[in-house]
Amino acid sequence: MKRWGKILALVAVAMMVLSVAAIAAPKTWVVGFSQIGSESECRTADTHSVQDAFAQDDSFALMYADAQQKQENQIKALRSFIARKVDCIVFTALVETGYGPVLQEAQKAHIPVVMIDRDVAKEDQKYRLTIMGSDFIKEGEKVGNWLAKYLKDKGIDDGTTPIDFAELQGTTGSAPAIDRAQGFRNIAKDHPNWQIKHSQDGDFTSSQGKQVMEAFLKDDPKIQVLFAHNDQMALGAIQAIKEAGLQPGKDITIISIDGVKGAFQAIVNGESNCTVECNPLLGPQAVQAVRDLRDGKKLPARIWTIESVYDASNAAAALPTRQY
Ligand code: AHR
Repeated sequence: MKRWGKILALVAVAMMVLSVAAIAAPKTWVVGFSQIGSESECRTADTHSVQDAFAQDDSFALMYADAQQKQENQIKALRSFIARKVDCIVFTALVETGYGPVLQEAQKAHIPVVMIDRDVAKEDQKYRLTIMGSDFIKEGEKVGNWLAKYLKDKGIDDGTTPIDFAELQGTTGSAPAIDRAQGFRNIAKDHPNWQIKHSQDGDFTSSQGKQVMEAFLKDDPKIQVLFAHNDQMALGAIQAIKEAGLQPGKDITIISIDGVKGAFQAIVNGESNCTVECNPLLGPQAVQAVRDLRDGKKLPARIWTIESVYDASNAAAALPTRQY
C-alpha cells in the first residue's frame, strides 16, 4: 500500500512537471510565406534569406509557396494559409493591385500579414501590419542623380544637346517598376535634354531584357544611356548590345538596380557603369518582426533597409564580400 502511494505521488509530480513544461514551452508558430517566384538572382537571394532565417529558430515552422510569377497562384496560396489557420503570413506582392479581398479575409481570420520587399496598393495597405524593404522611389532617384553627375563629368551631357535614353521597366504594375520609373523621372524632369525615347516592360528577367533591348537597338542604334529597373535585365541587355556590335558601358552608359554579383563583375569588366543596391537579405528582419509580433510588441508601419550605390570607384573592392 505504501509502495502504491509512493508511485502515485511520483506520477502526480511527473504530470505536474510535464504540464508546467507544456505551459513554459512556446507553441510553434506556423508562418506562411508567399513568394513571387525566381525571376532574378535578387529574388532567389530573398527566398533563401527568409527560409534560412526562419529555419534557425525552431519555435517557427515555415510553409513556403512559390507563385511562379502568377498572381492567381499567389492568391490561392494566401487562401490556403488562411484555411490552415497559420499564425502569421509573410508576403511579397507580384503587382500592387488585386490582393484586397484576400488580405481582408486574412484580417477577418485574425492572421497578421507582414509584407516584405514589394507592397500592395495604398487602398489595401490597411489590411497588412507592416512592410519592410527598400525605398524604390529613392532607388530611381539615385539612378537619376548618379547619371546626372556621370554624364556631365564624362562630357556626354552639356545640358542642352538631346541625349537618347532607353528604359527597361520591371513587371508592369509591380511596386518597384512603378516607383523606380517615378523616382527616375523626379530627377529627369530637371534635365529637359534627357529624352526617354524607349521604355518597355522586360519583366525583371534576363531573357526579356535581352529581347527588348534587341528591339530597341533595331529601332534606334544611337541609344546613349540604358536604365534597367534591375541587374538581371541589364545583364541580358549587355548581351544584346554586344551582339549588335556595340560596346556596353562605353557606347551605351548602363545603370541598373539590385547589386547582384553579376552586375558587379560587369562593372569591373567595364561593360556596365553602375548598380544601385536593392538589398534582398530580408530574412533576419522578417523573423525579428514576426518574433516581436508573437511577443505582443507593436511593429512600426515601415521598416527600411539600408543600401548603397556601386560604380567603377568601389565595385571591385566590394565584389569579394557580396552575398548575392
Ligand atoms: O522587388 C524587387 C525587385 O524584384 C528586384 O529589383 C528584382 O530583381 C526582383 O525581381
